[in-house]
Amino acid sequence: MSARVVLLGPPGAGKGTQAALIAEAGVGAHIASGDLFRKHLGEGTELGALAKTYMDKGELVPDDVTIRMVLERMDEQDARDGYVLDGFPRTLEQAKALDDALGGQGREIAAALLIEVETEELVRRLAGRWICRNCQTPYHESFSPPQAAGRCDSCSGELYQRDDDKSEVVRARLETYERQTAPLVGYYESQGKLARVNGQQRVEQVTADLEAAFGA
Ligand code: AP5
Repeated sequence: MSARVVLLGPPGAGKGTQAALIAEAGVGAHIASGDLFRKHLGEGTELGALAKTYMDKGELVPDDVTIRMVLERMDEQDARDGYVLDGFPRTLEQAKALDDALGGQGREIAAALLIEVETEELVRRLAGRWICRNCQTPYHESFSPPQAAGRCDSCSGELYQRDDDKSEVVRARLETYERQTAPLVGYYESQGKLARVNGQQRVEQVTADLEAAFGA
């Protein structure tokens, strides 16, 4: 069933893990702003270099470039009927720009799903995370290790650790989340679109709870 949903939650809550599973189940395209920036970085574009200066400090990339990049991606064919937004919007300005862009087109967001996880657990998850360089699948060295060390189960791509998963940058990302992104909870609550899901359960249970929350 296609749908238009936003996944909210702090760094390490499991947005990427869950967005990929929900998208695969037929909801639509998985659109992750962080993955789009890392793709630009890998391709050596000007936008990638700009984004890196903010990502390395745990700060947000400026709204204007971020909004343009994500809205362009949302215009692609695979996202026409449905999508799971992962990491966007992240400021009130981004949320309003998204509503403005979708408003007149009958393509409004159906639900904003907040994945809740305690801070201590977030830090543990990010410290042990490994990501596939090729398909972006996340693994965890203790909670969800790959079958062969250093290789992705899905595509055999090389696994790596993100520069911004270093402990001092993780602290800054968590502060940035509280300051700039947490206010979106109230924004979507006031629209009657917010649902909260306990992210400290098995991955499969979190997926089931998210799907139930938007009526998949
Ligand atoms: P981004 O890439 O979006 O990072 P993030 O929001 O900090 O989120 P993460 O990818 O770290 O975590 P996640 O919630 O996806 O968790 P995951 O599924 O991997 O952003 C990076 C940077 O880009 C930002 O700091 C900013 O600079 C910039 N940026 C991006 N978007 C922007 C925007 N809109 N505006 C401005 N700037 C922007 O899971 C984490 C770990 O936990 C994994 O190891 C996983 O295997 C494990 N795990 C997942 N679920 C479970 C579970 N249920 N139980 C146990 N372990 C689990």
